[in-house]
Amino acid sequence: MPDSAKTLLLFGATGDLARRMVLPSLFGLHADGLISPDLRIVGTARTDEDGDAFRAMTGAALEQYLPVEARDPKDISTFLERLDYVPLDASRPECFGPLADAVGSRRSDDVAIFLSTAPSLFESSIAGLSRAGLAGSNVRLALEKPLGFDLASSRSINDAVAHVFSEAQIFRIDHYLGKETVQNLLALRFANSLFEPLWREGGIDHVQITVSETVGLEGRVGFYDGAGAIRDMVQNHMLQLLALVAMEPPARFDATGIRDEKVKVLRSLRPIDRATAASHSVIGQYGAGAMAGGPVPGYVEELGKPSATETFVALKVNIDNWRWRGVPFYLRTGKRLPSRQSEIIIQFRDVPHSIFGARALKPNKLVIRLQPEENIRLLLMAKEPGLDRGGLMLREVPLDISLPNAFADSRRRIAYERLLLDLVEGDQTLFVRRDEVEAQWEWVD
Ligand code: BG6
Repeated sequence: MPDSAKTLLLFGATGDLARRMVLPSLFGLHADGLISPDLRIVGTARTDEDGDAFRAMTGAALEQYLPVEARDPKDISTFLERLDYVPLDASRPECFGPLADAVGSRRSDDVAIFLSTAPSLFESSIAGLSRAGLAGSNVRLALEKPLGFDLASSRSINDAVAHVFSEAQIFRIDHYLGKETVQNLLALRFANSLFEPLWREGGIDHVQITVSETVGLEGRVGFYDGAGAIRDMVQNHMLQLLALVAMEPPARFDATGIRDEKVKVLRSLRPIDRATAASHSVIGQYGAGAMAGGPVPGYVEELGKPSATETFVALKVNIDNWRWRGVPFYLRTGKRLPSRQSEIIIQFRDVPHSIFGARALKPNKLVIRLQPEENIRLLLMAKEPGLDRGGLMLREVPLDISLPNAFADSRRRIAYERLLLDLVEGDQTLFVRRDEVEAQWEWVD
């Protein structure tokens, strides 16, 4: 494992993601003593401000986005002391000198860089980093999505990055991999012997992966209309969830072992072509309606122009390999749906023969809930208590592995805390490798 980074360079440091997620996550790690006291965080963005203004902005973001009980004034003040800021026009590689100066002599220690900027700035940022001497083998680079628009554009970004950094230095973020329940899926599958014999055709009838959101466009006019639900959610988060459900047991729990198995699944996805599109896909776009008791505009009204971009998609996906022959994976995601709910349902097969006559039996179901709360439930048939004079009564009951209850002592962390800590420490297991992203794009194209 590499050394822990001594400097974290945060591109896009005044942006929405930084204020909502990245800075609060770094604060969480700081408050719990998980990052070394000598880690400096240098923010950079086009905004022409100084360190004091950046610290003030960060303080305000922590006030706004952290729960009250997490806002310890002493922790906040020591966290702000770690921060520095350098204004930078990342489109001009010749202007990166002051950023390198801010890193100073720490340049010879490990440096982590988080590039959370528009993809149009990736190439110039990488050129600038290289020119300023911030692209040596002690540097690791995290990239935030969207990493391209299709396979060709994704390849060109990957090529530009690979020109300067080796794959072992590149950390592609899919924040779903930082979610606790997503990682727990691996524990559930590979730390229990119970499921594995059934985890295949023969045992499982189908799998449903749903990410339903209540939010609409949220002001992302420029980005979303060129993407749509398939590129924004299916290409990355949903295919990663599918790969984790479907992959073979890896040789080891490490970056190579896990990613080798995921990419095999992604390469086995059966293409949906013109002949099967109608029977294997549904797309839609939200119209005006009501949400939480108030009116909300439709997608085109929010956008301010006509558009055919899909805000909902449902797909029936087949995986052409031995394990999953004939087992459909249903993927569904959309915005402005009635509830915020993300879950994976593993629907097991019926019993081969029912001894209970006409009484309805429901096949077992494993429900892995990611949002709004995290829990795992196994639905089983059980007998209702009683003397059964009218015949045995059966009912579906949950065997609950409710994570907040079972692990009441551990704090729930947001996905970026985990991913940022892994970046600082140099662990690539929960980051997406180039061959995975490209297999995902190839299928989406
Ligand atoms: C992002 C998408 O990657 O994930 C957004 O761009 C989406 O459109 C978000 O809202 C969902 O993330 P989460 O963690 O809230 O489910």
